[in-house]
Amino acid sequence: MSNKIFSVADARKYARRRIPRMTFDYVDGSAGDENACRLNIQCLEELRLMPRVMVNVEQRSYKKQLFDESWQLPFGIAPMGMCDLTWPGADGMLARAACKYGMPLVLSTMASSSIEATAELAGEKAWFQLYVGTSLDIAFDLVDRAAAAGYRNLVLTVDVPEIGSRPREKRNGFQSPIRIGPGQFIDFALHPQWSLRTLYTGVPKLANVNLPGGKEFKRDEARGKVDWAFLDRLREHWKGRLIVKGVLDGDDALRVRDAGVDAVYVSNHGGRQLDSAPAAIQVLPAIRAAVGPDYPLMFDSGLRNGESVVKALALGADFVFIGRPFLYAMGADGEAGLQQVIELIRSQIDIALAQLGCNDINDVDEQMIWVE
Ligand SMILES: Cc1cc2nc3c(=O)[nH]c(=O)nc-3n(C[C@H](O)[C@H](O)[C@H](O)COP(=O)(O)O)c2cc1C
Repeated sequence: MSNKIFSVADARKYARRRIPRMTFDYVDGSAGDENACRLNIQCLEELRLMPRVMVNVEQRSYKKQLFDESWQLPFGIAPMGMCDLTWPGADGMLARAACKYGMPLVLSTMASSSIEATAELAGEKAWFQLYVGTSLDIAFDLVDRAAAAGYRNLVLTVDVPEIGSRPREKRNGFQSPIRIGPGQFIDFALHPQWSLRTLYTGVPKLANVNLPGGKEFKRDEARGKVDWAFLDRLREHWKGRLIVKGVLDGDDALRVRDAGVDAVYVSNHGGRQLDSAPAAIQVLPAIRAAVGPDYPLMFDSGLRNGESVVKALALGADFVFIGRPFLYAMGADGEAGLQQVIELIRSQIDIALAQLGCNDINDVDEQMIWVE
């Protein structure tokens, strides 16, 4: 199947056929009428890059320096909960890919693999993403576990005070843990490869938030406790690098920077939270202007090919993350599909650099964006 994947759209098409509708819609769906998700992709598509000619581009490099580390690729794997629902063992595939390709993997609080197991598999390629529910004790517990397991980068996600209202999840009766009623039974029966494998490996569970003594952080729990005072507490508590994810407003970005946070991660959660939010790419230039030229900025939401990665870098991101395309890839063809999509985006970036007359991804800048 992987030899039939020539674009992220191909991977999405094959995933849609191979995995149950309920899990495909969990991945593919977004908030409300799905306008923010659509806009993310559309605004990136509408940006045009200006080719430059007759530069010798035989020696190109797309290695990225971020903080004190050098990454083989300018993109990483965005934090995503319950990836194993896409294909059994997906979290492990992502961890192996992070090692093989030299890219960061952000492990979600809501992952189906534990903080400790992922650290063993991916070492310092693994970053930890923190959600904070109603219990601050559980939050600080997770942070301490990440520190003990050797994580150096903590990503605090702040754009989920409540989970966005996602009609496709509701329509399919999607819940965590999964409940199997007649609708789901038929859906699973129609996708026997996924269902048999999932039965064989065991239905994925949230690996980090069911704690001893019956303490639990439920997926649909309110997460509105995160405020500026909490950020100060976390900054004091966590000695490693701290990144705040889900910022779209320039003033918020400045305040995050001034709270001693190491990087702002610009994102509208792939359109899964506020359906009327701007496309993340629309606000990126203003955030870059607000925080100044040297402050580390990360970006995700709507990246579907190598050229869109270059566009986000041109508009001010130092590093980008990609979400759904990797899940489509594993849904389409497991680990082979994942590698195919990573290779595809890598080669699209490489070819784009050649067309832009650019030898080093670190030299990509806003001059490359065509202005009418
Ligand atoms: C299935 C799925 C689960 C997600 N779970 C999380 C999560 O647990 N934590 C988080 O910070 N973001 C989560 N996100 C958002 C991603 O980190 C990222 O912001 C988004 O997917 C980027 O947009 P893209 O899918 O268009 O690349 C999730 C996204 C998807 C698609």
